Amino acid sequence: MALELYNKNGHICVAFFDLVTGEAVQSNQFLIIDNNHSAIIDPGGELTYSRLYMALSSYTNASNLDYIIASHQDPDIVASLNKWMVGTNCRVVVPELWERFIPHFTSPGRTKGRIVSIPDKGAKLKLGNIQLKALPAHFLHAEGNFQFYDPISKILFSGDMGANLGVSELQEPYTQLKDALPHMQGFHQRYMNSRKVCAYWANMVNTLDIEWMVPQHGKPFKGKKVISEFLGWISKLECGTDLMTQNDYRVP
Ligand SMILES: [Fe+2]
Ligand SMILES: [Fe+2]
Repeated sequence: MALELYNKNGHICVAFFDLVTGEAVQSNQFLIIDNNHSAIIDPGGELTYSRLYMALSSYTNASNLDYIIASHQDPDIVASLNKWMVGTNCRVVVPELWERFIPHFTSPGRTKGRIVSIPDKGAKLKLGNIQLKALPAHFLHAEGNFQFYDPISKILFSGDMGANLGVSELQEPYTQLKDALPHMQGFHQRYMNSRKVCAYWANMVNTLDIEWMVPQHGKPFKGKKVISEFLGWISKLECGTDLMTQNDYRVP
């Protein structure tokens, strides 16, 4: 199922929730279009390619795909890259830290001259008439990691931050944090690196005007109330290296 998060004056944001089937972890993919220029955020593995391609074609010509954007290097993020590089003229946008690793997903030479790398401090990415903001989200969870903020729709595409697992009714957003906590506490404690970086991230995000926070797994968060609750919660969550002790490092 596709959910149009925003559609006004030639600016469109669509979320896809059910393109991954089978044992693979449920993952969302996102399409952003501005004045016939388009980008796909975190297209996922091979299974999603044909359906995303068809969805893209129903909004715009696939030859207008400017970017495949990879928030980080995981297979649920960008394993389908080779197909997009063969099937379209897009460029691939990746964290600079992973730039040399990304060609492992494609046939030799396929990424030559087509990689846009994002430096650690983040960047603005021109798409049609807008500038998408690539926000640093390092160690949340990947060492080099970006989230994307769309200033028109006021959506934060938050990647693995806010991921909530084992949920249904994916198109129905959370409006209060307590409904999401049972589905995300364990994930964030294990995958997010430390309370320190979570708090830095929350401080940065607090400065933005956000209507939706849409993670790569599970349901979106809608409205300022739940987003503010989320930022308060994650700023204080002990996670990752905070929770590690010598007991976690013993020879088996
Ligand atoms: Fe990931
Ligand atoms: Fe993920």
